[in-house]
Amino acid sequence: MKVGNLVGLVGWRGMVGSVLMDRMQAEGDFKLIEPVFFSTSDAGGKAPAMAKNETLLQDAFNIDALKRCDIIISAQGGDYTTAVFPKLRAAGWRGHWIDAASTLRMKSDAVIILDPVNMPVIKNALAKGGNNWIGGNCTVSCMLMGVGALYKAGLVEWMSTQTYQAASGGGAQHMRELLTQYGTLYKEVAALLNDPKSAILEIDRQVIAKQRALTATETANFAVPLGGSLIPWIDKDLGIDQDRDTADWGKSREEWKGMAETNKILGLGDGFGTPAVPVDGFCVRVGAMRCHSQALTFKLKKNVPTADIEAMIAADNQWVKVVPNTREASIKDLTPVAVTGTMTIPVGRIRKLAMGPEYLGAFTVGDQLLWGAAEPLRRMLQILLQA
Ligand code: HSE
Repeated sequence: MKVGNLVGLVGWRGMVGSVLMDRMQAEGDFKLIEPVFFSTSDAGGKAPAMAKNETLLQDAFNIDALKRCDIIISAQGGDYTTAVFPKLRAAGWRGHWIDAASTLRMKSDAVIILDPVNMPVIKNALAKGGNNWIGGNCTVSCMLMGVGALYKAGLVEWMSTQTYQAASGGGAQHMRELLTQYGTLYKEVAALLNDPKSAILEIDRQVIAKQRALTATETANFAVPLGGSLIPWIDKDLGIDQDRDTADWGKSREEWKGMAETNKILGLGDGFGTPAVPVDGFCVRVGAMRCHSQALTFKLKKNVPTADIEAMIAADNQWVKVVPNTREASIKDLTPVAVTGTMTIPVGRIRKLAMGPEYLGAFTVGDQLLWGAAEPLRRMLQILLQA
């Protein structure tokens, strides 16, 4: 059935929403739609320049106003989804809901959208009348954009991922807090740093003293210092009540998403009648700005030559780029600084590991706000408009 083109946009001013608006403008998406801009705080205000006939901001909590839309894209966050989505469906709205928040991701009637990886899953749900399309966890989406080929080929017996996640995953305030902390630490020792004869251990002593003395206000978002440190826990503790001798115990929500979402995106595991691929590891916050990086360990189902693995990964989609496993290429092309603001998903450090020929290592980086959040949403819009 042809989908109409009245598209409600909610949360378009936030960080993910702003990246989404930029990408939609860059790709000419606004030419194909009649956008309706919603606001949670400024209903009646002036819609942005991309507006056509709908020039006033609509109230994002007004179910009747939302119901007019054929498609709604929300980057407003989970609380908004929780508050509005059930009411909208209860009011009989049958339109397409595209959402960046995790709230609905694991619902049986929702598809986690990452079309370069799971177009068949999306098409299948669309054919069955599906209308809830939810963007995946940023770490999972960036990982699958990089190494999805190995999963598609059925080669993965299990995967372990150790993440190096950027401040942006927490939100805009978290990025500000990180940078402010870096500045505070620099200021603390600037005079000593500028004196080439100063003692490095004295600089180090003053930095750690300052880090430990950061106030509650200076660590309001991450709770502890991140600048010049790391935080080996992301999101809630899901494992607190679990049996200590199971893999559910002591697991962070971010770590849980790794396996749950990877399998759901690929159409594997519970709900698909196939065994899930085990995915587990540790999710760690580091002082990067907006790129999530991950060191991956695969146990493959068979020994596949490294050159074949590289060829499969490189051929999977137009954004993935295999970085030769050399020092020079790795430090140049396989970093958050190299990848930020680009759609490229580099995969490097591809090599066999000491545990045996079926054990493969890789390292990948992705922009958390592009492939990790905004891009799958605008691509789903395109899929619906072309359906
Ligand atoms: N949960 C992710 C993070 C971002 O904290 O980095 C959202 O997918």
